[in-house]
Amino acid sequence: MTGRTATHSAVQSADGWTLAYDAFVPEQQGLREALCALGNGYCVSRGAFPWAHADEVHYPGTYLAGGYNRLTTEIAGRGIVNEDLVNLPDWTTIGFRPDGGDWFTLAACEVLSFRQELDLRGGVLTLCVGVRDRDGRETEVAARRFVHMEYPHLMAQELSVRPKNWSGGVEIRSTLDGRVINAGVKRYASLASTHLDLIDAAACTGEVCGDEMMTLVTAFTQSRQRIGQAARTRLVRGGQRLKIPGRIAAAEGCVTHSFHLEVGPDAPVTVEKVAALHTGRDVAISEPGLAAREAVDCAPVLGDLEATHRRAWERLWRRSDITVNGDARTQMILRLHVFHLLQTLSPNTVDLDVGVPARGWHGEAYRGHVFWDELFILPFLKFRLPAIAKAMIRYRHHRLGKARAAAQAAGLRGAMFPWQSGSDGREESQVVHLNPRSGRWVPDFTWQQRHVSLAVAYNAWTHYTATGDRAFLESRGAELILEIARFFASITHYNPTRERYEIHRVMGPDEYHDAYPDAEEPGLNNNAYTNVFTAWLMATTETLLAEIDPESRAELCAKLQITPEETAQWADMGRRMFVPFHDDGILSQFEGYERLKEFDWEGYRARYGDIHRLDRILEAEGDSANRYKLSKQADVLMLFYLFPERVLEGLLARLGYDFGPEQWQRTIDYYLARTSHGSTLSYLVHTWVMARSRPEQAWELFRTALESDVSDIQGGTTAEGIHLGAMAGTVDLVQRCFTGLDVHDGALCLDPVMPHHLRDVSLRVRFREKWLQVAVVGDTLTLSAAPDWTEPLRVRVAGEAASLNAGESRAFTLRQPPASPSGA
Ligand code: BGC
Repeated sequence: MTGRTATHSAVQSADGWTLAYDAFVPEQQGLREALCALGNGYCVSRGAFPWAHADEVHYPGTYLAGGYNRLTTEIAGRGIVNEDLVNLPDWTTIGFRPDGGDWFTLAACEVLSFRQELDLRGGVLTLCVGVRDRDGRETEVAARRFVHMEYPHLMAQELSVRPKNWSGGVEIRSTLDGRVINAGVKRYASLASTHLDLIDAAACTGEVCGDEMMTLVTAFTQSRQRIGQAARTRLVRGGQRLKIPGRIAAAEGCVTHSFHLEVGPDAPVTVEKVAALHTGRDVAISEPGLAAREAVDCAPVLGDLEATHRRAWERLWRRSDITVNGDARTQMILRLHVFHLLQTLSPNTVDLDVGVPARGWHGEAYRGHVFWDELFILPFLKFRLPAIAKAMIRYRHHRLGKARAAAQAAGLRGAMFPWQSGSDGREESQVVHLNPRSGRWVPDFTWQQRHVSLAVAYNAWTHYTATGDRAFLESRGAELILEIARFFASITHYNPTRERYEIHRVMGPDEYHDAYPDAEEPGLNNNAYTNVFTAWLMATTETLLAEIDPESRAELCAKLQITPEETAQWADMGRRMFVPFHDDGILSQFEGYERLKEFDWEGYRARYGDIHRLDRILEAEGDSANRYKLSKQADVLMLFYLFPERVLEGLLARLGYDFGPEQWQRTIDYYLARTSHGSTLSYLVHTWVMARSRPEQAWELFRTALESDVSDIQGGTTAEGIHLGAMAGTVDLVQRCFTGLDVHDGALCLDPVMPHHLRDVSLRVRFREKWLQVAVVGDTLTLSAAPDWTEPLRVRVAGEAASLNAGESRAFTLRQPPASPSGA
């Protein structure tokens, strides 16, 4: 049984473990390459066909986690520096041609049959095509590929050629191609894109297996990261290795291993390629070229490699799978999202000193930069693979020095993290960006999103509350939180008239507003999200200082020279941040939002159809989004996403503001009606905030969030890299939002609002070093404790306190039946 969407030919298997395509659609190839990318948290290779080269349809690309390089481009007389995620030399290419024929491509043939499958359970991509070339030769071509999850430096691919109606000679070539540039994003085409210097391309013979191998050593032009690659290519027929001599030739930036042999219907051939990738930053190596050669030389045959790779995935799925009943497509997409998350961030990432890239390591969009998206991504990881979540926080901690320097350069104190971060933690946001609609380069003020530092502090604190990892809090998390608190204390002004603290000249998550209409300077005052979040931060520093052990507290305060006056100011800010409201009690996105013009949503929808990117549309019209009440994505509503109702009401009450359920709902409705969802993150947040009050609308938004990448709802952006926040965030909606999973006073709380369409949900979570199984079936929630717990766990189900013992399985009848389709 299979399902299908109307516009995209992706089909899913009934068991929810396979993403498949059964027709070649050139216009979708970029999208599929991103969705079928394979990786292991160390590197990712796009799912391009083995024979493909970069052209209008295909874009093979391999990226290293954190593999950045800086280049300068002259734009309008200015030197613009960008740090990019570098497209590495392509290890994937295997080409073939019959004697006298053309090198094989689908474009040059009639495609008789086509099936591409991504096996999510085992992390293997397969392709099987039947073709007829222009000389009438019919051939079955099959390929499989994996990027090893246990041995992160190894990757493998095989390509089989089986003639159906012809026999004859065939030439085969397998390459390591270092002539690649960064050309994956058309908007960046006028920017400098050559990141690789060739150091060495050669042939060598392995000492262990005696195979002839190709090797290629390159280096990034500026960051000087040295990249070593090696590949061994073998020919196999009927399970036996063919002893046909090949020839290795190195040309400028490229090394090729070629073979010639006879094939026919009874004499097919399989080309097996095992490749390795090492960089100068890897631990326990001498030199990357040598390490790559040795890795290939010692690698077992492809079949054995695949077995260990599959076993590594099996272990990851045991921790990470979420099963849902009743909707095969939802099941497959949830797994696809977990799959890409774990290909971007895996146990192999833990020692790499990299952050959470907004678009995975799957493409060149946003240059592999790290924004605030970890806010949506770490919750999934911290409840099952906390070591990875911790490594992501450590990435921030390692860049505390740069964040302190940035604050100081701005005349402020503490740590100011950049809106876009890359290798060393400096601000990587673009100075200007191209509006493809108008062709104009426009200034980019998104760096004013100071709230990114609040997200860093929030992640550090919630990592502690979910894992109980006090040692990490004391060694890294607390320092981050305190330095960020210090930054927000220095960026606030005390307004004596209001007797409140205010934050001026910042931006909230809604990137459509970066200045007041017609203002000369960018920036907005008193963004509600930033101000309330700051109040939370100040309250949290109090809890934190009380929570860590006195010795660590004393050491930390001495190290950071935190004075009693400072902590007194923080405490005061937790009680007196200013929060803007409209006259009718709606939380205002920023001060003055109320005075902006209403936007003609219907008119623009009618004129443009797709109005996700109203900023670009309006700029192209010579207008500005700053003049209107419209949002790219949730801004105020982010507060409702991050903080449970009781916490948010408590925060506002502490600040002296009354904010009841009625205002709560009106605020949600108000902003939902004024949001274009120009970021895929927006659907997540809105699903979350409506899950309890408007379940049917929430389900629709959830479905849209699920389809973000698989159906490329933004019309072309996924090809440039997956949206990791939307992917992880949808899984987290099932994990935390629909189950009502939360941590309160050290207890694990659950309060399900399961969408009617999902029926049964089952998942495992790791809470404070204890594994437990959570299952919601109908109106019963069952918690099953692992047998190895040494002490009971305090839980709260729908507000009712209970204690769960090791090995115990306990069913709770939910008072509320699961939400029905009508939301009744
Ligand atoms: C969103 C940001 C996000 C970034 C990277 C932008 O379009 O507005 O909130 O951090 O994409 O995902």
